[in-house]
This record gives sequence, C-alpha cells and structure tokens, in this order.
Amino acid sequence: MTSKRRLFVTTALPYANGPFHIGHIMEYIQADTWVRYQRMQGNEVHFVGADDAHGAPIMIAAEKAGKTPQQFVADIAAGRAQYFDGFHIRFDNWHNTDGPENHQLAQDIYRALRKNGLIAVRDIEQFFDPVKGMFLPDRYIKGQCPKCGAADQYGDACEVCGAVYSPTELKQPYSALSGATPELRKSEHYFFQLSSPRCAQFLRDWTAGVNARGVPRLQTEVLNKVREWLATDDSGSGGLADWDISRDAPYFGIEIPDAPGKYFYVWLDAPIGYLASLKNHFDKGQAAQHWHLPSRTTQSFDEFVADPAVEQVHFIGKDIVYFHTLFWPATLHFSGRKTPSQINVHGFVTVGGEKMSKSRGTGISPLKYLDLGLNPEWLRYYLAAKLTARVEDVDFTPEDFVARVNADLIGKYVNIASRAAKFISQFFDGRLGYAAPTTDLYDAARALADDVAAAYEGREYARALRDIMAHADRINTAFDAAQPWVLAKDDARRAELQDVCSRALAGFWLLSVMLCPVLPALTTRVARELFGLERDFVWSDATELPQHVAPYRHLMQRIDPKQLDKLFEPDATAPTADAQAMTSPAAGPASSSDFISIDDFAKIDLRVARIAHAEAVAGSTKLLRLTLDVGETTADGVPRLRNVFSGIASAYRPEDLVGKLTVMVANLAPRKMKFGLSEGMVLAASSADEQAEPGLYLLEPHTGAKPGMRVR
Ligand code: MSP
Ligand code: ZN
Repeated sequence: MTSKRRLFVTTALPYANGPFHIGHIMEYIQADTWVRYQRMQGNEVHFVGADDAHGAPIMIAAEKAGKTPQQFVADIAAGRAQYFDGFHIRFDNWHNTDGPENHQLAQDIYRALRKNGLIAVRDIEQFFDPVKGMFLPDRYIKGQCPKCGAADQYGDACEVCGAVYSPTELKQPYSALSGATPELRKSEHYFFQLSSPRCAQFLRDWTAGVNARGVPRLQTEVLNKVREWLATDDSGSGGLADWDISRDAPYFGIEIPDAPGKYFYVWLDAPIGYLASLKNHFDKGQAAQHWHLPSRTTQSFDEFVADPAVEQVHFIGKDIVYFHTLFWPATLHFSGRKTPSQINVHGFVTVGGEKMSKSRGTGISPLKYLDLGLNPEWLRYYLAAKLTARVEDVDFTPEDFVARVNADLIGKYVNIASRAAKFISQFFDGRLGYAAPTTDLYDAARALADDVAAAYEGREYARALRDIMAHADRINTAFDAAQPWVLAKDDARRAELQDVCSRALAGFWLLSVMLCPVLPALTTRVARELFGLERDFVWSDATELPQHVAPYRHLMQRIDPKQLDKLFEPDATAPTADAQAMTSPAAGPASSSDFISIDDFAKIDLRVARIAHAEAVAGSTKLLRLTLDVGETTADGVPRLRNVFSGIASAYRPEDLVGKLTVMVANLAPRKMKFGLSEGMVLAASSADEQAEPGLYLLEPHTGAKPGMRVR
C-alpha cells in the first residue's frame, strides 16, 4: 500500500448575507463526495468551511436589519447546520472569517508581504456617493465593463467576460445605493504589488505547474483563462495590475496594522479564512479526533500547513477563479507560506436551462426540498451524475431528475437487493453461497473499482456513476437470465439458486461500496443493516465478497413527480416577475397579450390586514408565522384570524411586526405546508436584482386604514 495522503480540503466561503441556494449545495456535494472517497481510501482529510463575514454588503444589510454585523453574521451562521445535516455534508469544522484566528493570520500575512517589499501606499481617486455620504463599495457601483463593454456590471468584476478591475475603470458609472452619479474623491490606499516582475513570473510558473503528485494545479480551461489575464503584449503592458487591498472606514473587516481607519478589502482576508477555520479546528483539538492519526500527525496547525506532504485542495465556482488562481497563491507564496496543490473549479447550477433567479421564481430552495420530505440522496445522486472535472454548468431539469433517479437508483440499483435477498432469506437463512469459483467476481470487481476510483479522484463523477450503473445493468441481466423464480420452484436446484442470488448480492455489495461517497446514508444502512457490518464501507471492501444478508428492508422510495411539482411552486410571498413588471416601467408589458383586464385584477381580493401576532417557525429559517386580522368574524361574532406563513424571516423580527398593518391576498386558495395551513399571503417588495440590492419590504398602508378594508 502506498502511504496515506494528508489532505486539507475547502469549499468557497459563502457570504454570510443569506441562506444557501442550490448552487452552494452543489459545491458542497461535489467536495463532500470527494472527501468521502478519500476517507474510504484511508486518507487523512481535514474538510473545513466558514462564513465569509466581511465587506460592505454585509455591513449594509446588517444595518438595515437593525443588527450589529457580528450579530447578523451569527444569525446566518445559526442556519447553516440544517443544510449540512439535511444533505449529509460533513465538514469537520465551520467557522467564520471574523474570528480571532483570521484577524491574526491576515495581519501576519500582511506584515510578511510588507516586509517582502510588496505593499505600496498611494492616493487613489475613489467613487464617493454624494447622496449617501460615503465611499462606495465596488459592488455598489455599476456601469459598463471596461474590457468587454457589457452593461450593468459591478465595480469589481465582470460577470460576462470575467475581467477583474477597479470600479473607476467602469464606463458610465452609477451608485447602486442611490442611483447618483458618483464623484471621485482622494483617499490613501494600500496595494499588493502584483504588477512587480517577480509576482508576474511566479504566477506564470505556478499556474502552469503541477503539484507534488504530478497533477496540474489548474484545469486546462482555467489555465487558458488565466493565461489571458496574465498576458502582456509586445510593449510589456497588460498583465496584472497592483491589487487594492484597503478600504476606508466605515467598513466591516480586519484593521490594517499601522494604518488607522483602514481595513483589509474582504477578498484579502476571505481566503485566509480557509486557514483560520483549519486553525480553529486544530486548536479545538478535533483534528486528531476525526481520524485515528498516527503520532506524527499530532502536529500543530503551523506545522501542518507548512508540511510539504499536506495537499491543500480548494473547491470553487467559476466566478471566483481570478481570486483563487492569482491573488490567493501570490498572497501565500510572498508571505512565505505553502501554496495550494489544486484549485478545482466547477460550473454553475442552472434550472431548466436558465440562470437561477429567485425573482423569476426559478431556482430551487434547498430547505424547501428538505421540508417537502424529498430524499437528500436523490439530489446528491442527480448532481453527481452530472458533474465532471470540467467547468461546465449543471442543469437541473425536473423531468430529468425524476427519470434519472427512478431509473438508476430504484430501477437498477436498489432492485437488485430487494429481489435477490428475498430468496436468500426464504431458503438459506441469510447465508450466501457461491457454487462456482469466484475468481471472475474478484477480477471484475478489482477492474471496475480501480476505474471508478480513478474517476472519483479526478472528479469525473458522471463517469463513475455511468460505470457503476452499467455494472448494475450486467448484474440485473445475469439475474434475469438465470430465472431464479423458476429455480426456486425446484428443490433439486437449491445450490444453483443460492449461487445466482449470492452473485447478485455480491454485485450489490460492490455497487454499494462504490456508491458510498455519493449516497452515504443509504450505503450505511446497506453495510450495517443488510450485510451486518459493524462499520461503514471502506474502499477495499470492493474486492471482498459478502457471506450473509439480513432480510431485506425497504431501502429507497421512487420519486413521485407530484412532490417535485411542489418544489417548483412559487412561495407565498416571493414576488413574481409579473409583480415586478407592474411596478417597473422599464420592464412593462410589451404586447397587449401581456396586459390583464380590470376584471382579472378584480378577482384578487386584496385586504388591509393587522398583524395580530408574529412568530418564528421552528425548523425554518425563512418563514414567519403571521396571525392576521382582516376584520372577519365567525357566525357567533368571534374575530376570525388568518394564519399565514410568510418567507420574510430574513428581513423582519417577529416582535417588530406585531400591530403593524399590511396588505394581504385574502382569496388565495389555502395551502397546506409542512408547518400548517397557510390562508393567504402578504405582499412584499424586493429588487429584481436581489444580489445587488438585497432586502424585502412589506407593504404598509397609510395611516387611517382599517383591517378588512379592500385594496383596489
Ligand atoms: N464569499 C465568496 C467566496 C470567498 S472564498 C474565500 C463568494 N461567496 S458566494 O456565496 O457568492 O459563493 C460561494 C460559492 O458558491 C462560490 O464557489 C460560487 O461559485 C458558488 N456558487 C454561487 N452560485 C452558484 C451556482 N448557481 N451554481 C454553482 N455554484 C455557485 O463568492
Ligand atoms: Zn466584461
């Protein structure tokens, strides 16, 4: 056996300003699958994540919510575990970038860069919002991309061509906070001198290089992109510019040493948060607990991250390649630290071929998925079946999801066990027995397991699952051809029956071992309940043969397409595109068929409602339970109150709503939800672009309105 690998694995640190969406979950599933595979091989893995706490957007969102940024971030963090538990995503540690470890590490790294002569200080002209009275954060300035000319791009990076630039380079800039044309004002800023020849040289070599295992650090298509960014023309211009790493107060971030009123730009300290979470993990003494580590691995954090034998692997999405392939390795290298071994970039999740957008009602809420009782392993399987090592988008199509999961997991995989185990229990008391020599089984298992292992290692999950399901097909074909139901009728052919079923179950065992990284909960049951193992599968089990099965117990349900329809039903309060078209002149109806008649409108019974009571909903981070008074009484004169679940928990504290008036749709068909019956919906406004302009605002009538009044 080759010696065990030692891995430090991360996923991108999500901004702590909202709940997870399906894109986050896909990234975690991709990384978690890889980590589980590595652990099955006996490798030592430290898999950590953290919330990305800093930056102006979070500061502004916290202010709006009436919270300190720390409290705001803590509240978001409190909602994370339900996703991880729900989708079997097993981080060893989850931390945040505002922890003491990150303050210390970021300042240390900065001091090292400064000592290395790579920090410059100079005055810059920066956009100032004259209406808001503050320097505008990059994300709050929009305009035309200076490289490709795309309209409405943010001030830090272009979503169309991927270029990263400074906001002052934007053409026709405007403030996304106030709409005002920003003014240029002077301020002293700190720069990481990436334009220096030694940085350029280092990055050209590093990005094109291979890691200690001889594997390229970057995927080919990523490297090609990076080459464009690094390219200089004949005159020597082009290439990287110095990187502005400071921001002026007010800012939620880490103070720059010896520079009062200056903070690190969030993207300087965010990746350092990977190290901070790992340090936090080590310091908690958990690092040694997870794996029964040989004594040499009871290292300190500092020793571990400096150890050349440790592989540092980052999983990220395609939108943050620039930061991870250029800024991050340079930051590490020039502060005297080890650089990453591999940056694994994935594409985006699209839904029905479209970019996800909450305001258009597309996208899938991971919590809703869980709340509806959909099996998390269906999603793990479906996404894994579409994931490759390339930077390709992954499309979620409901019909495809149902077909894929039902055909593969139920039709091909689970069926083997349910059919074969029955005979073994009935006739052989659970004992497996192989009549003929089993060398063919061993040979097939070894070859297949090696192929599938290579596929997992290379993040070619689609290929791994294709190979696995092709083997399931072979097992089913052989089983059917042997007609065990005919053999079972003949007492003289018992040995043959046992052999046929045992071979099928040996196949099922092998499939289960190989599916373990993708279906951890299901295969744990297979290992423990069906095969009576007192542990989970490890990879070397692939070349073992089972000797015993317990009576078959139901393993997995088919997906009922109706369940999935519910997932795509828009939420009660999520504003639809139609609602926005009505309020935004720019996006108004284009043709007469897009108009509705006054009669159509009159069908909607809008009423003024008094919020009599509001409370959090246990088990949901999104919903508040509202009790609404719309002036109704029961036959005997008792006020009748409506119960409405509303997805506004991110924007309102229940206690702040009680007594307020709002507007509700009173004749919406009642909807049964996991938490109870919802008898209507309240109206709220939100931006068409929720990323640039987060926030949810309940409608409130002017003073004088009374509960029950009609809105028309
Ligand atoms: N905070 C930064 C990352 C800092 S890493 C030191 C950030 N946060 S994020 O919440 O916007 O994104 C987190 C991860 O989710 C990123 O890897 C991003 O690419 C990924 N995704 C965001 N939307 C996605 C999809 N629609 N599909 C797949 N992944 C997506 O960026
Ligand atoms: Zn562009």
